[in-house]
Amino acid sequence: MLPPVAEGACSLERLRIYAFRNYAEQSVEFGPGINVVGGRNAQGKTNLLEAVATLLLTRSPRASTSADVVAWGSDEALVEARVVRPAADRTLAIRFRRDLGSGRVTRTATVDGSPRPARDLLGLCPVVLFWPEDLQLVKAGPDGRRRLLDVVLSQLDARAAADLLRYRHVLEQRNSLLRQIRAGSASPAPLQGFTRELVSSGSRIQVARAALVEALIPHGREALAQIGGGEELGLHYLPDGGMERGDGLEATEQALAATLRRRHEEEIARGATLAGPHRDDLELLIDGRPARSAASQGQQRSIVLALKLAEVRHIAARAGVMPVLLLDDVLSELDPGRRHDLLSGLAAAGLQTLITSSELLPGSLPPGTRRFEVAAGRVVAEARA
Ligand SMILES: Nc1ncnc2c1ncn2[C@@H]1O[C@H](COP(=O)(O)OP(=O)(O)OP(=O)(O)O)[C@@H](O)[C@H]1O
Ligand SMILES: [Mg+2]
Repeated sequence: MLPPVAEGACSLERLRIYAFRNYAEQSVEFGPGINVVGGRNAQGKTNLLEAVATLLLTRSPRASTSADVVAWGSDEALVEARVVRPAADRTLAIRFRRDLGSGRVTRTATVDGSPRPARDLLGLCPVVLFWPEDLQLVKAGPDGRRRLLDVVLSQLDARAAADLLRYRHVLEQRNSLLRQIRAGSASPAPLQGFTRELVSSGSRIQVARAALVEALIPHGREALAQIGGGEELGLHYLPDGGMERGDGLEATEQALAATLRRRHEEEIARGATLAGPHRDDLELLIDGRPARSAASQGQQRSIVLALKLAEVRHIAARAGVMPVLLLDDVLSELDPGRRHDLLSGLAAAGLQTLITSSELLPGSLPPGTRRFEVAAGRVVAEARA
């Protein structure tokens, strides 16, 4: 279970939140190791982890718009944390404000009090998330699997983060133009410019995803072996648009451009972009067979946990720093022995881990574990285990 110990770990020392979801005003002092957040259903456990993820990823991984995270009846929200890093400690903050005219919520970021583009916060303290929805990762559609890759990429590689944003934007514009061409309300002339942009950011994303998957393979394999699965995990990147395994940037660009040229008429008829990284997939294999159809319930859980641990290992190797790990309600299904082994492994590796659970986690927790209890949007530090 033990990821390689990086030079140091990144951890949140003090979190302050204001008018975020069901929290009015809250300050939490997390410990550097395992932190367990308990409480009954609908009290704010997930919201607390969401606040941390929102700060470190600059947007909520589960909200569709920024407006969702602002407490009902409020026009402003804030998440701020003192982050301890081997390089230098920093205070990161994200503030949400509702424009009273348009009703839209915008976000602004600061590092040590100075305004910064939100993207500058990405990767300052890397984070790995594991939500209950992730348990569907093996069987559900490809969105979640693409997102897994992109969340890692955007924290490790500023260029990839910019390409992902650019691609999403160009894709939307290109699709809208294709619909207008289909309706006869726009000329096809500007399509070429959008296609060029789509191909250039799209190919860079595919080359980066391909390299990431290659890097995750050995980590995932080792992690699954350590979790106790006797099976071999396989990861197989399936880029859309014609890229072949081993292709560099130029070949990827050419393949994608050729596919789009070939599907031009069909794209106009359907009013949608029909090739590119928004249609990629990551195939998961167990002993060489597609996990989607071959994996049992328990195997699926192990595969997802192995993928998450692979993310931790890869980030540690790449960034030279252990990420913060957020586990939302996903440990109650492990038996106490396995849970203890996992948590001790994480604590020994120096990871700060924030865990929520609506059940009392029976069995022993590693020394130094801090326990918190959440009730109706208030956190109380309970005790050290
Ligand atoms: N923008 C918001 N403003 C105020 N309250 C909100 C907002 N969004 C969600 N909530 C409330 O926050 C409550 C707590 O949600 P949360 O998902 O954190 O619960 P939880 O403690 O994780 O529960 P469970 O154990 O069921 O997962 C929800 O029941 C919801 O009513
Ligand atoms: Mg929850």
